[in-house]
Order: sequence, then C-alpha cells, then structure tokens
Amino acid sequence: MARKFFVGGNWKCNGTNEEVKKIVSTLNDGQVPSSDVVEVVISPPYVFLPLVKSSLRPDFHVAAQNCWVKKGGAFTGEISAEMLKNLGIHWVVLGHSERRLLLGESNEFVGDKVAYALSQGLKVIACVGETLEHRESGATMDVVAAQTKAIADRISDWTNVVVAYEPVWAIGTGKVATPAQAQEVHSALRKWLQTNVSVQVAESTRIIYGGSVNGANCKELAAQPDVDGFLVGGASLKAEFLDIIKSAT
Ligand code: G3H
Repeated sequence: MARKFFVGGNWKCNGTNEEVKKIVSTLNDGQVPSSDVVEVVISPPYVFLPLVKSSLRPDFHVAAQNCWVKKGGAFTGEISAEMLKNLGIHWVVLGHSERRLLLGESNEFVGDKVAYALSQGLKVIACVGETLEHRESGATMDVVAAQTKAIADRISDWTNVVVAYEPVWAIGTGKVATPAQAQEVHSALRKWLQTNVSVQVAESTRIIYGGSVNGANCKELAAQPDVDGFLVGGASLKAEFLDIIKSAT
C-alpha cells in the first residue's frame, strides 16, 4: 500500500496574532501538490488553534501540540482530547522530545496519551527519538524501540498514527541527520513494527523525519525509501515550508 507523503509544521511556542495571520496568509497563497499527493498538518500553539482553523486553507489540517492523558476535569492548565474534537481539531502531536525531556513525560505516559487520543477519534503524530548520548553509546534503536513499544502495548489500530522519528541532537540545532542516518533508523523502525505489530502496519504506517529539516535538505531526505515525510519546527514558520511540502513530488 502506498504511503501518502506527510508534512507537519510544528510551530512550538512561537508566534503572535499578527505573525500567525502572516504565516497563514503565506501558506494560503502557496502553490503546492494536491492533497492526493501530500497531507499537510499545521500545529500552532493552543491559543491560536481557532484562528488557524478558521483561516487556513481547507486542504491543510490543524493539530494541537499536546493533549491531556485522559478525560478532562480538575487538571489545571491542561487541554483534553474532547476539547480538541469540539473545536474541530483532528490531529495532535504527542511525545515530542521537548515534552519528554523538559517536562518528564515517560514512555508509558506518552503511550497512555496516544491510546486515549485515538480512543477519542483524534489522529496522532507520535514522536520518538534518541539523544546524542544514546546515539554515541550505540543505543539509538533500543531507545526508539522502547518508545514505540510503549505505544504498541496500548493500541491495536495504527490507522490514525503517524510516527515521527526526531533525533534530539538534530532538533533546532541545524545539525540534520544525513539521509543515510535517517533511512537507517526509519528502516529499523519499520522492521520493528513488522516483527512486533504486523506486516500490514509496518507497510502502511507513515514514518516521518524531524530535526533541522529545511528547504535545502528536504529533497534528499525525502528520496529515502522509508522517509514518508517530515515534522518541521523552525522552517515551518517561514515561507520555505512551502518548498518542504513540494518535496513530496
Ligand atoms: O517538531 C519538530 C522538530 O522538533 C524539529 O524542529 O525543525 O526546528 O529542528 P526543527
């Protein structure tokens, strides 16, 4: 089964009202391949979700950058999956390394979040990836497998999951993984899914790469057989994000 190319733009904790309107207008004016060829999902901070949702072109989708691990209630500062659904937001990014590392989200907690978000009908961009220390000690695949296992242990249907492989050492550093490094982990991750979940899930699940992707390096990365798209941080706030979307063809 062919996997549709996927490009996510993670704006992280950036933007003002004015800047958001400007980025949306740039995206809306962009000439990009059709949604039959590439799925584009924009992930602004929570407070801008309604603005982006109401002003963004309809062929691009909107994602939240996180959501609570279960039904809402007395959880100050949190946003529930139900609230996102209520706003017409269909996607959520979960397990980003900035949350795993800075906010102490464990593999199990991320797995629980993925399972709950899926149970509420959201689609999930689930992030995994190793630190530089892990990579240098040869533990990359052990770390990525443990992160993926915590998700696999809690879900049975992978239809609405996109896995984002984001090596922490490449995020926001300008130090992109080489195409060969990305392909090596994506291929190993796909083999892990084949062995531990199913051949069908391994073949159909999009595995996208994140970490210093830009307009200049995206083409070569996109040409790798197991790289099914990107999760873009810094460059998603700029017009070059359109070039990254175009790397789908
Ligand atoms: O979610 C996106 C990733 O963290 C990549 O961020 O493109 O700024 O390196 P970056």
